[in-house]
Amino acid sequence: MTTVDSRTPDALADAERWTAHNYHPLPVVITDAEGAWVTDVDGRRYLDFLAGYSALNFGHRHPGLIAAAHAQLDRLTLTSRAFVHDQFADFCRGLAQLCDKDLVLPMNTGAEAVETAIKVARKWGYQVKGVPDGQATIIVAENNFHGRTTTIVSFSTDPDARNDFGPYTPGFTIVPYGDLDALTAAIDENTVAVLLEPIQGEAGVLVPPAGYLQGVRAACTENNVLMIADEIQSGLGRTGRTFAIEHEGVVPDMYVLGKALGGGIVPVSAVTADRDVLGVLKPGEHGSTFGGNPLACAVGAEVVRLLQTGEFQEKSEKLGHSLHEGLRAMPGVKAVRGRGLWAGVDIDPALMTGREACERLAENGVLVKDTHGSTIRLAPPLVVSEADLELALGKIRKVLS
Ligand SMILES: Cc1ncc(COP(=O)(O)O)c(C=O)c1O
Repeated sequence: MTTVDSRTPDALADAERWTAHNYHPLPVVITDAEGAWVTDVDGRRYLDFLAGYSALNFGHRHPGLIAAAHAQLDRLTLTSRAFVHDQFADFCRGLAQLCDKDLVLPMNTGAEAVETAIKVARKWGYQVKGVPDGQATIIVAENNFHGRTTTIVSFSTDPDARNDFGPYTPGFTIVPYGDLDALTAAIDENTVAVLLEPIQGEAGVLVPPAGYLQGVRAACTENNVLMIADEIQSGLGRTGRTFAIEHEGVVPDMYVLGKALGGGIVPVSAVTADRDVLGVLKPGEHGSTFGGNPLACAVGAEVVRLLQTGEFQEKSEKLGHSLHEGLRAMPGVKAVRGRGLWAGVDIDPALMTGREACERLAENGVLVKDTHGSTIRLAPPLVVSEADLELALGKIRKVLS
């Protein structure tokens, strides 16, 4: 992929020399981007079909989001929550209304929002449900991915994410994803919450069996257990709906949001829930210096406005059909999962590994990322044009043929 006077090898070596090796990036060094396209240090252009793991749902440098960020940068960027700023209410009101919930608690990264949901659920369990002190448990699913903090990796089933990071936080029960009987059997009087991804992204875009999320909702309601939907990757238009859980007509007690909420510009995450749940927190019990800062709120409010139009959800649904049909018809493809503009593709392992597929796709001008073994994940920005989608599908076909 590199030529004699390419700047890529030096740029890669420099990055490698000065950073911890906690990622294994594709050998592409990006300098500029717009919409679904990025450009590297050598001037080569690529279609970005990863979109920052769905943080770039609205594409790179969406004009409305960039304008909101610029305007805010010129006025006010940080106050801390010690004071109130004029962007705060607008963002929180908009997001609460988008989620049809009473309250919003803004944070920064996805993992922080998950941690927030865990703390709120535990506190709700002790104060509202009446669980004995220190006994609260939360049910989670096998192959989950909720982030990288020590508490969250404590209930990961991925050895790479978990091993050697103990001692682990207790209080989590792990059940197979998609198995309603197992989940129902795991609920007892100390269960305060079920925490699930409505579609498991990192696991390979696994869609649970039809009726599963409805069954979980019913089991939670029946047993006075909070249903927490981690929509950090699946939410905000990615699957053709505002939230992936909507495909089953289910409303969780808490939404956990992140990634695209920051418009690909700043880290913005949040937990949303009704007052009887989020209202358990009192001053001093939780917070973050940067959570809900003016720049984050200005961008986040604009993200909410984009989603209120329904345009991106519709586009994802429509182009999602072309994406899935195109991928299913390809040689060397064993399975295609997902919804909307989101697909997990199992490539025949005899053909190549997921990593090899990603490297070859990058050489052909399409950026995607492998997950486990021979699975690759595609999540183009929702602003991708039909022509660019077809272009990428053609290149994927070429690599797999
Ligand atoms: C479902 C889900 N939850 C949580 C996270 C963690 O988000 P962050 O990397 O912003 O901490 C991710 C990130 O990929 C995710 O996909």
